Amino acid sequence: MADLQLGKVWIVDRDHKPVEREVRTITAHTAAVELGPYRHFMQKEIFEQPRAIADTLDGVQAITPALFGAQAAAVFPAISGVRILACGTSFYAGLTAKYWIESIARVPVDVEVASEYRYRDSVPDPSALVVVISQSGETADTLAALKHAKQLGHTHTLAVVNVATSAMARETAMQFFTRAGTEIGVASTKAFTTQLVALYLLAGALARAKGRLSDAQEAQMLTALRHLPAAVQSVLALEPQIIAWAEAFARRENALFLGRGMHYPIALEGALKLKEITYIHAEAYPAGELKHGPLALVTDAMPVVAVAPNDALLDKLKSNLQEVRARGGELYVFADADGQIEASDGVHLIRLPEHYGDLSPILHVVPLQLLAYHTATARGTDVDKPRNLAKSVTVE
Ligand code: M6R
Repeated sequence: MADLQLGKVWIVDRDHKPVEREVRTITAHTAAVELGPYRHFMQKEIFEQPRAIADTLDGVQAITPALFGAQAAAVFPAISGVRILACGTSFYAGLTAKYWIESIARVPVDVEVASEYRYRDSVPDPSALVVVISQSGETADTLAALKHAKQLGHTHTLAVVNVATSAMARETAMQFFTRAGTEIGVASTKAFTTQLVALYLLAGALARAKGRLSDAQEAQMLTALRHLPAAVQSVLALEPQIIAWAEAFARRENALFLGRGMHYPIALEGALKLKEITYIHAEAYPAGELKHGPLALVTDAMPVVAVAPNDALLDKLKSNLQEVRARGGELYVFADADGQIEASDGVHLIRLPEHYGDLSPILHVVPLQLLAYHTATARGTDVDKPRNLAKSVTVE
């Protein structure tokens, strides 16, 4: 426990005995806690994403293990797999990373909810890389999962965190610090997109370490990353169209989110954002799962949001969406400008800029953040401090 007063700090341990701790000075900008022209911190943080991504990429000249700390160059070539542990939005970043790491680095990845991992009898693999992902770096469940992994004999541990002084940064052998800046809104936004940037770099760095990344591929990845802030900026310009949809959403009590492939975690994240700040019940499914159960929920009272980038799965997704229309479900589709999908009766469409390849999840999550935000403001909820939730969950 600590008592902080101007110029004085008094700390006691769990037995209430006074203890001394090293004093470290941290620089924070007052702008981080000022709203400026925005109504809420969540809106401000959504709009800060181009800058947060650019800051996270600052100094990244090449995609190499060195980005992840001094030990990584020796560790990455020999790892047998990756085990990702995280909670909430950070868990969905991990699910997206699985697609990237497996396809780019050809390294198998397990992603597990941190609060489950430590209570089951898992099979430890000391040659695997354990990755914890966290905005705060203090989430009790993720921290406990990390300690559990270490007790099981895992020594190759990496934290992808936004707070350099956090417990997870201190407890891991390797670190990558996202530079999202202070995130105040309970709903995580810029922390998520910067985590995705870090994890895409991790996929490339593992591929590099395994001899599976050519110079041409590395150059292509870097070019796509460097254009990302501008690409996110052009998605943010869709805000007026999304506000128009939010009016209709604010009157609903349920919603379904659909995605396929690496956009399924983005559908999960869209549903989490909506339920967290609007209190609308929302669920997400990989679109191919519809007919295995959730289709029974679809009526004209169930809006269905589809994440529909112009990728190899678009045709499959379109046939899933026809199943929804056939049951009277109203569709809200986020497509790409170059995708063959049209608006029609009961099919509302917003087009993002052209398909952005592997990094498309980072663009497609932005309109879902805006949809949740504007639906919440239309419903008059406390956007930055939704009921029952805390920004940092430091208890189990
Ligand atoms: O600080 P962390 O990233 O470890 O937090 C994990 C979750 O508590 C967090 O992502 C939560 O799900 C957010 N409120 C979602 O917006």
